[in-house]
Amino acid sequence: MSELFRESWVLITGASSGLGAELARQLAARHANLVLTARSIERLSAVAEEVRTRHGVAMHVISVDLAASDGPAKLIAEVEALGVAIDHLVNNAGFGSLGRFVRTRPERETEMVRLNCEAVVCLTRHFLPGMIERGRGGVIQLSSTAGHQPTPFFTTYGATKAFVLSFASALSAELAGTGVRMMAFCPGPVPTGFQKAAGLAITDLKRGGLRARLSMMEAPEAVRRCLRAYEDGRSVYVPGFVNRVMTLATKLAPRALVVNAAARSLSGGGRGSKT
Ligand SMILES: NC(=O)c1ccc[n+]([C@@H]2O[C@H](COP(=O)([O-])OP(=O)(O)OC[C@H]3O[C@@H](n4cnc5c(N)ncnc54)[C@H](OP(=O)(O)O)[C@@H]3O)[C@@H](O)[C@H]2O)c1
Repeated sequence: MSELFRESWVLITGASSGLGAELARQLAARHANLVLTARSIERLSAVAEEVRTRHGVAMHVISVDLAASDGPAKLIAEVEALGVAIDHLVNNAGFGSLGRFVRTRPERETEMVRLNCEAVVCLTRHFLPGMIERGRGGVIQLSSTAGHQPTPFFTTYGATKAFVLSFASALSAELAGTGVRMMAFCPGPVPTGFQKAAGLAITDLKRGGLRARLSMMEAPEAVRRCLRAYEDGRSVYVPGFVNRVMTLATKLAPRALVVNAAARSLSGGGRGSKT
């Protein structure tokens, strides 16, 4: 295990469940101090209590709705008030919504864009200059295998994750020589609160096609691989052999073929890899 995170301060968004809570556990095991944020203060406090008891690191929790128009600014103000310099930022909070685009709830789609994209831009823009000045630290941006291709019936979600992938990849080139890392993390399906929020049962995911089952990874394993890739200085990381093959295939195959295959897989009423 590298010493990259030892005694650093890491801000994790969406830390009340799933990948964010697991990131908190594994980063604390690497001796990082944590600022955890999400909307649910009860769930955040439970994660903080568990991690603090186990690893004894310093910790703050901040409840904020990052999809609200003033959410990112509120979080920034609260972090500033703590007086800690954020060394690493993990833009993890996010959700998707499954279904035919014209039948989705319009406010839910725009809320998704604000959380998955706008908050990511605001927080990255705020915390990067300090990292560059200190010549260390970095950002992990949660994209998805869904960010590598259009995802009909998961349309807005795939588009937000493509945005994150492009945003992180471009920034990683801008940051060359600064000592600051930038990685897009692109997992395939991971059973978490994500499926319920998206309108997909975890049992559907587990019963899904062979590809879905081969792509699936539990949160602790996904996070272990994510942190290792970030420590290794990767700029884009897709965990798992099947996921890597699939994302490579989407680059090589004609776009119409890729979109049609995704439409067939994602229109199946809850079958397939809807990440
Ligand atoms: N699970 C997968 O299959 C998968 C695959 C690829 C990528 N991802 C990405 O991984 C990230 C984490 O997802 P997950 O799987 O861990 O899902 P999850 O268990 O549902 O966690 C989502 C987190 O985001 C927070 N959140 C949701 N809306 C928020 C808002 N408006 N403001 C602030 N925080 C908010 C939630 O906390 P509160 O509800 O308390 O606010 C929760 O902590 C997401 O960006 C997702 O797109 C997931």
